[in-house]
Amino acid sequence: MKVIICIGSCCHLKGARQVVKKLQFLINENGLTDLVELGGTPCRGKCQYDVCVTVDDKFYSVSPETAEQFFCENILSKLNRP
Ligand code: FES
Repeated sequence: MKVIICIGSCCHLKGARQVVKKLQFLINENGLTDLVELGGTPCRGKCQYDVCVTVDDKFYSVSPETAEQFFCENILSKLNRP
């Protein structure tokens, strides 16, 4: 699974770094480092939303406050781990 976080200037201001840190932490904590690849991208043209994150090319708007919920709903649950 590829999770790509926008690190453009708008998303940076909205907390992209915290989102990256939280996702990194949660991926490590859940032992998913072999299954989830985190990456960065320049501006995706969706600056009107929160931080732009794509999971296998599907777009999500994530903030540092919603990062954990996003992780559970769109990363953890999709990996179908027991
Ligand atoms: S800076 Fe992230 S979508 Fe524009």
